[in-house]
Amino acid sequence: MEILKTKRLMQQWSRARKKKGKTICFVPTMGYLHQGHISLLEKGKPLCDELVLSIFVNPSQFGPNEDLDAYPMDIDNDLRLAAVAGVTAVFLPQKEDIYPPHFQTRICLDSLPHHLCGMSRPVHFGGVATVVTKLFHIVMPDVAIFGKKDFQQLQIIRQMTWDLDFNIEIMGGEIVREKDGLAMSSRNAYLTADQRKSALSLSRSLHMAGQVIAKGEKNPLVIEKEISCFIQSFPQTRIEYISFCDPATLETVGVIDKQILLALAVQVGKTRLIDNVLIDPPQ
Ligand code: PAJ
Repeated sequence: MEILKTKRLMQQWSRARKKKGKTICFVPTMGYLHQGHISLLEKGKPLCDELVLSIFVNPSQFGPNEDLDAYPMDIDNDLRLAAVAGVTAVFLPQKEDIYPPHFQTRICLDSLPHHLCGMSRPVHFGGVATVVTKLFHIVMPDVAIFGKKDFQQLQIIRQMTWDLDFNIEIMGGEIVREKDGLAMSSRNAYLTADQRKSALSLSRSLHMAGQVIAKGEKNPLVIEKEISCFIQSFPQTRIEYISFCDPATLETVGVIDKQILLALAVQVGKTRLIDNVLIDPPQ
């Protein structure tokens, strides 16, 4: 496994592989790897000749009062896990390499970033789209894989890739959960033991909503009321949003008569957690 610490080295590596006719699969991350990230690497491994992982805590996707400085890191462990997963190159750029002085370009999308997490994180998806664009240009992958845990991010990357004619196939990986249902996240490391219990309110309420919809409830407001009471019954929880929306446009739906995305963001203590599920109405 090669470790490439500058964009020039990464580009040289990718160019050399492409010259030999090799295909490249790419999994971008911010590190502190867990089984969710590993599942994306495992999905990508058989797809291409090369498997590239990037680890870069991207400052431009964090708002001024967010956890950029506290974001967990353990590069040694990440490299160990990457090697076991069959990664052939790890891209570990420094901030200055990605954002040199006088950097001033930003990728903006018209509509998708303004829903769900974009309502409270106005700069987030512009930062994600910009860094992913740069990473795509540097790594030059044939396939790139993103987790459905960040469903809105995946849709934004798909849209951007389509709009801007990136010749890259975007694939989605299923949400990986702890045994008790909590969606894996690097940010789960922030939770105290009590908060960890409250964090279960997210996955449990998604499950509850699925059951209510299966019984025939079509009104999102009724279900929202029920799951919002449920989440609030757990200590230290503050709901940011509960959204029943169209999975393609992320626009709110008024009636559940086709597949919907139910997406949640809940602050547990100071930690912001998200989760989602696609739900079909009963036949
Ligand atoms: P990060 O939060 O490190 O996540 C990297 C990838 O892992 C994303 O595609 C995310 O959706 C996926 N992932 C995280 N938890 C998961 C889980 N429990 N199950 C399945 N996949 C999971 O997302 C980012 O980094 C950044 O925004 C990035 C795309 C790297 C741009 O900076």
